[in-house]
Amino acid sequence: MRKKKRKLKKKPFILMFIFVCFVLVVLFFINNKTNVNIEDKLSDLGYSSNEVKAIVKNVSKNNYNLISKKYNKSLVDLITANDYKEENFKKYLEYYDNNSKANVDDIIAIINSGYDLTKYPASSLLASLVKEKYYIHKNVTRYLDYGNSHDYLAKKVIAIVNAKADYAFYTETEKTNIKDDNLVLVNKFYHLSDSYEPDDLVTLSSKYNQGANNKMRKDAADAFMKMVDGAMLDNIILKNSSAYRSYEYQVNLYDRYVKRDGKKKADIYSARPGYSEHQTGLCTDINTVDSSFANTKEAKWLADNSYKYGFILRFPKGKEDITGYKYEPWHYRYVGEETAKIIYDEDLTLEEYYAYYIEK
Ligand code: DAL
Ligand code: ZN
Repeated sequence: MRKKKRKLKKKPFILMFIFVCFVLVVLFFINNKTNVNIEDKLSDLGYSSNEVKAIVKNVSKNNYNLISKKYNKSLVDLITANDYKEENFKKYLEYYDNNSKANVDDIIAIINSGYDLTKYPASSLLASLVKEKYYIHKNVTRYLDYGNSHDYLAKKVIAIVNAKADYAFYTETEKTNIKDDNLVLVNKFYHLSDSYEPDDLVTLSSKYNQGANNKMRKDAADAFMKMVDGAMLDNIILKNSSAYRSYEYQVNLYDRYVKRDGKKKADIYSARPGYSEHQTGLCTDINTVDSSFANTKEAKWLADNSYKYGFILRFPKGKEDITGYKYEPWHYRYVGEETAKIIYDEDLTLEEYYAYYIEK
């Protein structure tokens, strides 16, 4: 009696096993048939047997419908390229249809960027632009225009366009956003109103100052004094020579320079009224306002340490195309410690920082 019961229990398992085997055999045949079909189809389209092997190996079955209709001379290059991502396969093919002369790696880089660039022709410039960290999609047309007319690396094209410096200086100007507070951007594109004067200016004592323009905004002045005290511990003597300057003061200063050197030359080292950072009360010209300052131990100390106190070298060497001014080793701008560190670590100007970290 017991024996019979056990026998009866085994039966469903045996039946299940036979059924599973049957399903597996059927699937195996279907699978083989699909493979045979796709291989035949690919050969009929003109692919060589090596190409067919590579395609079957790299393209998953659910994408067969995308490749079985017409011959694509770059298909194997595409699916075996380093940065190929299967999930983008359909997009690569669609983009390739309109850009069949383009380099496959460029097409892959452009599609992998995830931006909708379908209306922009593939090019090595576009591919190198989208790989750059500071790429901002809304600027893509300007990057391409500027990059195609200048023999610069993509990184530089992006920096210049992000800073608006693909436009001529003092064109496309707009009022700056004073609400940006310590990060307010004032340059040859962004200006202050002629009546703007910060409401928290404080006066630096003679320990920290040696000129007539001895006022700074409160936070900037506190940070500046901390920096001067910190530098002193390293036997470095720093003093402000010119900090806040009113709109009217800048009118006289700039006029004087224009009379002396002409407008074109003056524009390289002096801001027009309303366009000077000195009107923000957030910057300071330190010690000697002269290019000889660059070689002093004070200038070196500032370049290496000012960011720890929230200051940045505002007009660095090699960034003249972006800032619009020649190198000023004495002009430091307060932006706060967090921003100063990013700008220092990433070797940016305030223009580049603003475009990528604030405006975007
Ligand atoms: N020298 C700087 C650019 C100014 O005039 O504000
Ligand atoms: Zn200055």
